Amino acid sequence: MNALGNKHILLGVTGGIAAYKAPELVRRLRELGATVQVVLTAAGGAFITPLTLQAVSGQPVHTQLLSAEAESGMGHIELARWADLILIAPCTADFMARLAQGRSDDLLAACCLASRGAIAVAPAMNAGMWDSAATQRNLRQLIADGVQVFGPASGSQACGEVGEGRLLEPAELVACCAGLFGTNALTDKQVLITAGPTLEDMDPVRYLGNRSSGRMGYALAAAARDAGAVVTLISGPVALAEPPGVTLLRVRSASDMHHAVLERIAGMDIFIGAAAVADYRPAQASARKIKKDQEHLTLELVRNPDILAEVAARSPRPFTVGFAAETDDVLTYARRKLEDKNLDLIAANLVGAGQGFDVADNALSVLWPGGQQELPRASKPTLARQLVKLIAERLRASA
Ligand code: C5P
Repeated sequence: MNALGNKHILLGVTGGIAAYKAPELVRRLRELGATVQVVLTAAGGAFITPLTLQAVSGQPVHTQLLSAEAESGMGHIELARWADLILIAPCTADFMARLAQGRSDDLLAACCLASRGAIAVAPAMNAGMWDSAATQRNLRQLIADGVQVFGPASGSQACGEVGEGRLLEPAELVACCAGLFGTNALTDKQVLITAGPTLEDMDPVRYLGNRSSGRMGYALAAAARDAGAVVTLISGPVALAEPPGVTLLRVRSASDMHHAVLERIAGMDIFIGAAAVADYRPAQASARKIKKDQEHLTLELVRNPDILAEVAARSPRPFTVGFAAETDDVLTYARRKLEDKNLDLIAANLVGAGQGFDVADNALSVLWPGGQQELPRASKPTLARQLVKLIAERLRASA
């Protein structure tokens, strides 16, 4: 496999104990065809020597921003231009903070600031540092700036604690990197995606809604576009920018979304139902604002059409992908949903306080008839690219 053939990867190694995994990461990146150069920060150099990284990368290791030698040859601008991807692994809490601030006071930070290409971070730190308000704020800023975030995983840590903050394993990091590059995996495929919540009006001022932000569906639309697909996105009300190069249709209720999907489904190769479609709507939306003159108010609800199941029941039908958001027993429910709705693939995630909905990152279990794959916690754009790659593989396998 040559998933990273001809790619230039600048690996930034910052000062965390997980730096001991960097040489293994370099080897695996090179095995997939990448050329790797390493920038080692001062703190990174306290954990691992330049000599080790030079030996495994086959290239001199860069450590200084203000070095006459480096500036005459490969200074930070040249390194930033050279790199198709800057991958920072391990990325400490401190480096996340500095990247979020746009600092340029060492070679790695300066390379990131000068880069016009992709930047990815693989955080590795103590669970308390990861959970801190400041790190979570920096994480949101990095994601908003377009930085890809790989992990972290949870488990036992070098500090003796158990929790979130472990560096992803080198094999997982390499798979994340491969997923970043435009694959042409869906060239000319027609893809219809639903995203966001639906809002079900009760009266002219009130509605029933849910916490979906639309981020996953929008990230999927961008990832499918980058893989060469012609993408139509049908979106409930969200506060997200229109993704360039995608046809966007805005709807409000489940009924609106249902109509919009049925109008456009013919000829689609793939349908991805990422929207959190309301299962019920008020039986009748009141034409006037409902007054608070009764002690109890009973609202009668009626079932909305199940858009995903309806698409999956068509003949011929597109390759049909659903999502399962559950608060418990995710895999059992997801497998049942895959079978009951007759889907080709389902992406399952746990939702609840701070998980799944309305947050910037997530983890998915992807199931299909006869198979399953875990996509470890990552930013939604990163997960979306991995999911699109899997969808393309399953589509080819089912053809
Ligand atoms: O059965 P459940 O609603 O949990 O299934 C979730 C999946 O079904 C999601 O992908 C969602 O977009 C889709 N769905 C739908 N129409 C509905 C309800 C859910 O398309 N009315």
